[in-house]
Amino acid sequence: KKKIAIMTSGGDSPGMNGVVRACVRMAIHMGCDAYCVYEGYEGLVQGGDLIRKMEWHDVRGWLSEGGTLIGTARCMAFYERPGRLAAAKNMILNGIDAIIICGGDGSLTGADRFRAEWPSLLDELVSKGEFKPEQIESFKHLNIVGLVGSIDNDLSGTDATIGCYSALARICYAVDLIEATASSHSRAFVIEVMGRHCGWLALMAGVATGADFVFIPEKPSEHNWKEEMYRIVQEHRKLGKRKTIVIIAEGALDRQGKKITPTMVKDLLADKNGLGLDTRITTLGHVQRGGTAVAYDRMLATLQGVEAVKAVLEATPETKTCFIAITENKIIRKPLMEAVQDTKQVSSAIERQDFDEAMGLRDAEFSE
Ligand code: F6P
Repeated sequence: KKKIAIMTSGGDSPGMNGVVRACVRMAIHMGCDAYCVYEGYEGLVQGGDLIRKMEWHDVRGWLSEGGTLIGTARCMAFYERPGRLAAAKNMILNGIDAIIICGGDGSLTGADRFRAEWPSLLDELVSKGEFKPEQIESFKHLNIVGLVGSIDNDLSGTDATIGCYSALARICYAVDLIEATASSHSRAFVIEVMGRHCGWLALMAGVATGADFVFIPEKPSEHNWKEEMYRIVQEHRKLGKRKTIVIIAEGALDRQGKKITPTMVKDLLADKNGLGLDTRITTLGHVQRGGTAVAYDRMLATLQGVEAVKAVLEATPETKTCFIAITENKIIRKPLMEAVQDTKQVSSAIERQDFDEAMGLRDAEFSE
């Protein structure tokens, strides 16, 4: 019987439990044994009770649970070869040669490296006398399939990462709450949202709430964002707006690549010689990541989980490590490392302030 392991890694995101549920049940449905690796890569490295066989009923009710019930961790040991060697040993001890990983691009890249190193890890385990050659005969190829779980929606090649719409919904809800009090006092609010390297959450929250101004890490603002924001907020106030909402991603940068902080924005809005607005800062923090998934993320988690198990069962040694994407509303498999590479290329084009090239690279995905 084929044994398939499922693991969540990196920052949790709403919908991860839906992924685990779908993978466990699809694996069982296809006649395989399903395993969960608890605590992310830490569970692979430590093995023992952290790798558990799952039954159909073990994941009952998981669609409506927030976070990840099988845990996640940032595992330093997996960055070192001895950690990966221990992970390979634990997998063989459990008879597992296929893992579905739900995490961000960092976690998925780690998995691809592990796969590339797999034959040499097996050789080392044999030469150290951990296994006899015949014991590893059927484990020659490691099969990895990725599912992108992140609230940031920061991977090129997929329209939405699992969790991003839940976080966006949470942000919109919070901004609506803030707007009521802002309007009452005619105040300004600077609302910090997550997104260290990617401004999708901030930008979409700005669109969805009709914010006055948005700051993101992709540096699109004018050379002089202070003048620009001043002008726009002043205009809106002149039109009779009683509230000012500025959304700022935690990794926001100006056109020169310098950090823009909520305090800098607040100081400008509150400046007595300028706008002079009574201003507050609200940092939404991990409220954005916790809680249950919205319907879209549950649907995405389920459809992609099912596809991930199919991808595992149809893979050959020649198949490149793939991830499951959603493109133009279709659930499809794509080569993982190309998407990671595209994401990096877009980021570095933005770094060079070449926005035309960055847009071109993004468009290229759709013409495949
Ligand atoms: O990558 C997801 C994310 O939520 C980012 O938006 C945020 O910058 C980061 O994780 C926060 O990480 P931590 O939970 O480790 O503080």
